[in-house]
Amino acid sequence: MATILSGKECAAAMHEELKIKVDELKNKHNLTPRLAVILVGDDPGSVSYVRGKEKDCLRVGIEFQLHKFDTDYSEADLLALILQLNDDHAIHGFIVQLPLPGHINEEKVLYAIDPEKDVDGFHPVNIGRMMIGAQCFLPATPHGIQQLLVRNNIPIEGQHVVIVGRSNIVGKPLAMMLVQKKQHANATVTLCHTRTKNLADITRTADILVAAAGRPDTITRDMVKENAVVIDVGVNRINDPTKKQGYRLIGDVDFTTVCEIASAITPVPGGVGPMTRTMLLHNTIQAARNHAGIS
Ligand code: GUN
Repeated sequence: MATILSGKECAAAMHEELKIKVDELKNKHNLTPRLAVILVGDDPGSVSYVRGKEKDCLRVGIEFQLHKFDTDYSEADLLALILQLNDDHAIHGFIVQLPLPGHINEEKVLYAIDPEKDVDGFHPVNIGRMMIGAQCFLPATPHGIQQLLVRNNIPIEGQHVVIVGRSNIVGKPLAMMLVQKKQHANATVTLCHTRTKNLADITRTADILVAAAGRPDTITRDMVKENAVVIDVGVNRINDPTKKQGYRLIGDVDFTTVCEIASAITPVPGGVGPMTRTMLLHNTIQAARNHAGIS
């Protein structure tokens, strides 16, 4: 049976470390890291993510500022707010929660954010820096996956990592991070997607298999090599009348059967999700240090 890789436990340990860093900034440098989040509309997933981010910030001592708007908030007003936050010295980092309503051009919005405040790591400048292995804000989900592997002593170097899903916020950046000629990387990476032929033949060669397709049962037992490490990035809402909210969350992996063959696996919820939120805190603290010129 697979070991359960608890992101919840790993994130809790990281929160303790981050709280110490924040306390040190407050006590030694009179500096309190401050994160702003822009939320447009009432997408239930986004509202719940943002609430979680606020809770995490308060736990480690980061100040949190929410800018919440109705779905019909205009693109022009959003771009104006971004420029205002770019110039606001009291805000060290900010993010615009995605997805945005259809009338707002996501690309325009992400390009407008000052890369030095882009703690999501979504601005093309940060993505480019990441690709060449330079200093940058790393995107939270791939960074969280890397930390979860490292902190559970799972080797990455020389391993075959197969990623299923090529999104700009998970699959593509994770491939780029793990292939770097660096510590905690040096993997051989295969990036698969909806047009990949013979997907199961490829996933069965993975030492580390990452499911980030956004679809339940993307990975079934027959697609996993014995003793592989399986990372499930999926967060899918499934109707469940027995639950108070009327739904429950499941990942992209058929957890019960894959548990029988994998050596380690992340649960959903409580796996990658808490790590993602934690890496945003890490970036916000880094942004505050950069702002104050503390190395
Ligand atoms: N929507 C889903 N994940 C993310 C994230 O990491 N950052 C932002 N801004 N929006 C998201």
